[in-house]
Amino acid sequence: MSARRDSILREMGLGPLWRLRAPSVTPAAVEELPVIAPLPDPVPPADVQPAPAGDVAGLGWEALTERIVACRACALCEQRRQAVPGVGDRQADWLFVGEGPGAEEDARGEPFVGKAGKLLDAMLAAIGLQRGEGVYIANTVKCRPPANRTPEADELAACFPFLARQIALIQPRLIVALGRPAAQSLLNTDVRIAAARGRCFDYAGIPVVVTYHPAYLLRNPADKAKAWEDLCFARRRMRQSIDGETR
Ligand code: URA
Repeated sequence: MSARRDSILREMGLGPLWRLRAPSVTPAAVEELPVIAPLPDPVPPADVQPAPAGDVAGLGWEALTERIVACRACALCEQRRQAVPGVGDRQADWLFVGEGPGAEEDARGEPFVGKAGKLLDAMLAAIGLQRGEGVYIANTVKCRPPANRTPEADELAACFPFLARQIALIQPRLIVALGRPAAQSLLNTDVRIAAARGRCFDYAGIPVVVTYHPAYLLRNPADKAKAWEDLCFARRRMRQSIDGETR
């Protein structure tokens, strides 16, 4: 492991914890996994209702961004300073999807620029990625929920067409859902992160890997090692996707 990688992991508060002696997901185990594993126990969509998507379906980036910043489809628009559409490479292989903007993101108009964002950047760096280079970062809801509460089902549903259009435009090779609201919106079903980790789901033909939200990891640092496993799993899936195309 390089000195730079070591120092990144130390910064994440991981140190040697990140060196998995017996990773629960090994490369061999990954090869044995079905390409897309079904949810262990599918539950009918409880709290995320389908939203009308037709409206933004044909839009390009500029028109889509204009629609997002002007959106008043749910109550979140009332207290936002600005909507936060997303940031990064519009032809990215990797799409990371968070929950919703916090105070700093609301002020700056960019996702993941606060403490959780610093951890996300360190997580990206740990698997050789960098914000903006082959990576796009978006949120499930584009406006800050008051007091950083979890977005409500109707808010997730109202905003989902924007994320769906972003995905259609980017066509990433892989989506990483950071936390439960992102996973539930993308998979349109009730998801527990602990049960969904280490599996590969599907959104419109694109593999989706689920892991803990960086803000959760700041509050529960003991789970950072699991997030590291999830990122390694995602990286292996990405390699499989690239190898599959070059063969
Ligand atoms: N948490 C998120 O889910 N998104 C952000 O942009 C910031 C914090």
